Amino acid sequence: MDVYKSIDEVRGAIKKFKSDGKRIGFVPTMGALHEGHLSLIRLAKKHADVIVASIFVNPEQFGPNEDFDSYPRELEADLNKCEDEGVAIVFAPNRDDVYDKKKYIRIEVDELNRHMCGGSRPGFFEGILLIVNKLFNIISPDVAVFGQKDIQQFQIVSQMVREFNHDIELVMAPIERANDGLALSSRNKYLSDEEREIAPGLYRALTYVERQIKSGVETPSLLLKHQKSELEAKGFKIDYLNVFDKKTLRPVNALKEGGEYILAGAAWLGKTRLIDNFLIEL
Ligand code: PAF
Repeated sequence: MDVYKSIDEVRGAIKKFKSDGKRIGFVPTMGALHEGHLSLIRLAKKHADVIVASIFVNPEQFGPNEDFDSYPRELEADLNKCEDEGVAIVFAPNRDDVYDKKKYIRIEVDELNRHMCGGSRPGFFEGILLIVNKLFNIISPDVAVFGQKDIQQFQIVSQMVREFNHDIELVMAPIERANDGLALSSRNKYLSDEEREIAPGLYRALTYVERQIKSGVETPSLLLKHQKSELEAKGFKIDYLNVFDKKTLRPVNALKEGGEYILAGAAWLGKTRLIDNFLIEL
């Protein structure tokens, strides 16, 4: 496995594989790799011959009061995990390798970031699109794999791929969960033992609402309100818990036969922000 910081070097290495006719699969990450990331790598291997992973904690997607400084950084361990999974190339740049000191160009997101995580994290998706766009241009993958846990990210990146004409196939990997249902996340490391016990509550609330919707509830607002109060009583601070249209990412009140929805929640438990979602097709 080769590890590069420099754009020119990683491009050179990828070009060699491409000239041998290899299909390049890409898994972008911010490191602190867990089973969720490893499942993305394993899925990428089913779609490509050579896997490139990136490890970069992207400052542009953190707000001024967010956890950029404390975000877990475990490069050595991450590289070992990538090597064990058969990753061929890791691109692990420093900030100055990918960003100029002063930037004059931004990518703006319209509407798709108004609700869900975009509603409470201003600039988050603009920062993600900036780095993902750069990484797509640097790596030039044939296929890139993102996780369903960040479903709004997947939908917005898909829109960028369409609008910016990136010639890249996107694949969404299902959410990896702990035995008690908690969606795996690098941020779960922040949870105290007590919070870790409570944390699967978000998954359970979503599971309950999903089941009710599947058994015929068409207007889940009361159910959601009730689940929010139950979660708050357990110590969660709810950011959102709602059903969204899968395409527009807008909240939906009345669900219709044939509709595609995202039942999603985000909630704080102490200093940890948890997110989770279910895709629902009626
Ligand atoms: O999903 C993530 O880990 C990040 O948002 C990504 C796609 C690596 C961009 O920094």
